[in-house]
Amino acid sequence: MNNRRKFFKKTIIAASGLLASKSLASNCTITPAQTEGPFYPIDEQLDTDTDLVFVKGSSKKASGEIVYIKGQVLDQFCKPVKNALVEIWQACESGKYNHPNDPNPAKLDRNFQYWGKALSDDLGRYSFRTIIPGSYPATNTWNRPPHVHFKISQRGYEILTTQMYFKGHHLNKNDKILKSLSKSEKENVLVDFEGEKNKKVGIFNITLNQIF
Ligand SMILES: [Fe+2]
Repeated sequence: MNNRRKFFKKTIIAASGLLASKSLASNCTITPAQTEGPFYPIDEQLDTDTDLVFVKGSSKKASGEIVYIKGQVLDQFCKPVKNALVEIWQACESGKYNHPNDPNPAKLDRNFQYWGKALSDDLGRYSFRTIIPGSYPATNTWNRPPHVHFKISQRGYEILTTQMYFKGHHLNKNDKILKSLSKSEKENVLVDFEGEKNKKVGIFNITLNQIF
């Protein structure tokens, strides 16, 4: 074998070793993306903090069952992603979005903060207090199950837009958007909420794809 061939052989062996160690380390599955939908907030809101149950300046609570959504933002190597912007937006208890293009005739809840933002901490953790959103008609024959829209962004990572669902809800089974995921992908976005009424907690861990 001449030197040039030896060099290539060595390079290939080194590269395959690198790939093997990388794939061994990347054992956190990237959270599946889901459509952003048509109701990403377009009107600025005075209050976009992590408590969606109260709107700043008002003492009136939003209608609906209160839940806590908590989780950790990780990368594909299972390393926490700090300072990630975690945005959520959702319908109120009646199934209505605070968006001018929402055709749903249901009533808006003026006491609900439809949009919230959190920054993950040093361990990648985030949390929100919100209510279980209502279901709403997507077409005449299809009602969307309660879901919370998520968008997570941080420099160096692919932006992830997805939706989180409430495990066990009867409308999950026939939802055209949720059905587009494989069985294991569905498990990543179906969240079990446990605890007493109005104190239930659901853990939604999110894995981003690190790109640089
Ligand atoms: Fe939606």
